[in-house]
Amino acid sequence: MGKITAAVTAVGGYVPESILSNKDLEKMVDTSDEWITTRTGVKERRILKDPEKALSDIGVEIVKEICDKRGISPTELDLIIVGTITGDYRFPATANIICDKAGATKAWGFDLNAACSGFLFSLTVGTQFIESGKYEKVLVIGADVMSSILDYTDRATCIIFGDGGGGVLLEPNTENLGIIDTIMKNDGSGREFLFQPVGGSRTPVTPENVAAGEHFIYQEGRAVFKYAVSNMADVSVAIMERNNLTGDTVDWLVPHQANLRIISATANRMGLSEEKVMINIEKYGNTTSGTIPLCLWEWENQLKKGDNIILSAFGGGFTWGAIYLKWAYNPR
Ligand code: UT7
Repeated sequence: MGKITAAVTAVGGYVPESILSNKDLEKMVDTSDEWITTRTGVKERRILKDPEKALSDIGVEIVKEICDKRGISPTELDLIIVGTITGDYRFPATANIICDKAGATKAWGFDLNAACSGFLFSLTVGTQFIESGKYEKVLVIGADVMSSILDYTDRATCIIFGDGGGGVLLEPNTENLGIIDTIMKNDGSGREFLFQPVGGSRTPVTPENVAAGEHFIYQEGRAVFKYAVSNMADVSVAIMERNNLTGDTVDWLVPHQANLRIISATANRMGLSEEKVMINIEKYGNTTSGTIPLCLWEWENQLKKGDNIILSAFGGGFTWGAIYLKWAYNPR
């Protein structure tokens, strides 16, 4: 028998209904639609407003859509991995809650924290369980509720992020389709440029640090931009070279949607024309682990069996990476 690869066999996605536009933000902080659009590419983002809802509810919608599309029951799933930094609780893991609420009674699961690279790291881990022959149905989610950790008086962060996410089902394939190669990286010396200062064991929550707003996300945008723009392009080019791909033979780039300028720089370095790059940052902003699966979800009907796809991300940590994915099915 040929080598077993992990193929994506279905995609799901979910964004909350409520829209927060740049015009809305103009009324909340000292910013402008013009500044946000030209500096980031974001026009609006989705916000999970319902106080009864959390990350697991987004995850359940994703599981349901994937199982419906694939014609399977959640009881057939072996494992659910959730890439996220905004789980329902610090513990237990949101994957447990999703298994329970979605009726994935056979599956076990865990959350994986790699900030904006969360989906790529999770996909890399999920792939191992398929390639080894251990499991046949691994569901990988990337999703975040960034509004739950944002300070809507801080214009440096609140204009960028949004809520939502997506996921994919991985199944064994013997036609050499699916995840072909992965490069994952991290550099913890970048931890203080983009992080949530309070709430962990280093600085537990106190009334004083909450009053000072230190439980919200903190980012030094310019520093992160500098690392992101070079590392995301470098790792994308590296995975192309390692697999003898060129700008002509890559069909799609699925970039993390942090900033349109980072996406353009990456696509240029890869020698890709604009129409090969999935971009929806204008509608959803940066949903952290959610951006890449949300793109796959929106473009699913344009993807063809055999398409060469590069997924690429950079995020807090720092974490970054790229995956070479060969698409396994035609539009249904
Ligand atoms: O997804 C995880 C990884 N994260 C990223 O990849 C994000 C990377 N960083 C970025 O995307 C960009 O750095 C930002 C979009 C966050 C900021 O854009 P920038 O072009 O780097 O702006 P800046 O921070 O250098 O600020 C430029 C100017 C400053 O004013 P002065 O000092 O030149 O007078 C800021 O105070 O723009 C000002 N500014 C704003 N003005 C209006 C900063 N934020 C805003 C704002 N509205 N929201």
